[in-house]
Amino acid sequence: MTSAPKIEFRNLRKTFGEGASLFTAIDNLDLQIRDGEIVTVVGPSGCGKSTAMNIVAGLTDVSSGECRVDGKLVNGPGPERGVIFQQYALFPWLTVRENVEFGLRIQGVGKKDRETRALHYLDLVGLKAFADAYPKTLSGGMKQRCAIARAYAVNPSVLLMDEPFGALDALTRVKLQNQLLDTWSRDKRTVMFITHDVDEAVYIAHRVIVLAANPGRLQEIIEVDLPFPRNDEVRLSPEFITLRNKVWRAVYHRDDQAA
Ligand SMILES: Nc1ncnc2c1ncn2[C@@H]1O[C@H](COP(=O)(O)OP(=O)(O)OP(=O)(O)O)[C@@H](O)[C@H]1O
Ligand SMILES: [Mg+2]
Repeated sequence: MTSAPKIEFRNLRKTFGEGASLFTAIDNLDLQIRDGEIVTVVGPSGCGKSTAMNIVAGLTDVSSGECRVDGKLVNGPGPERGVIFQQYALFPWLTVRENVEFGLRIQGVGKKDRETRALHYLDLVGLKAFADAYPKTLSGGMKQRCAIARAYAVNPSVLLMDEPFGALDALTRVKLQNQLLDTWSRDKRTVMFITHDVDEAVYIAHRVIVLAANPGRLQEIIEVDLPFPRNDEVRLSPEFITLRNKVWRAVYHRDDQAA
């Protein structure tokens, strides 16, 4: 992958407030994410993970420096960037299928086409049988799968995921991790994925970006050179355990002796 970066942070700084209450949420962030790469972002609470992602999503502006996607300065949200939050932001008055169709409707996709695409993505996340159900009748994992189908449906080239599996039980989480990797192996979208779960961070990533807090800044980048496709065998391998320990130490600032 030698092409121009898909996502680029250049000397990025983000502050909130002013005067005595000025707070630096992100300081001097330089980072490049390649096209088709999956990066996970970990770090203590308040280190600026969500802020960085919201900047890429175009939901938050920068104080100085730049954020570019496909070489273009980000200056608002766009259909090429799909965002998935921890809380399944589904519309309760729409059925599962209508939720997935929502973005397509905004794009002006016709009814028949919308329906076909929605059902395709619902099938992909194992929710086709629930197409006509309303969100309130779904479990947390099902709601999140619906949110994922909705993000996939508009076919973004970048997926921005902020602790998308954070509220789910361990088993559902692993299933959705595998599903994400499975989908990625077919479409090779660029994924920026925030998590607090060190195992998850290593399992799905090409690289783990570790941020430090106060001010939020880059602490370390850890290459995950584990083979794809990843599965339980990879997860239980000594190489995986070594990487996971390395990420854990980076997050908690512990060196080899202390761990
Ligand atoms: N709109 C805002 N106004 C003021 N301060 C903010 C705002 N948004 C975020 N911050 C501050 O910026 C810092 C980074 O917040 P952010 O939400 O990016 O952290 P995070 O790494 O995602 O944390 P968590 O792991 O808890 O989700 C925090 O100290 C937070 O209080
Ligand atoms: Mg956050």
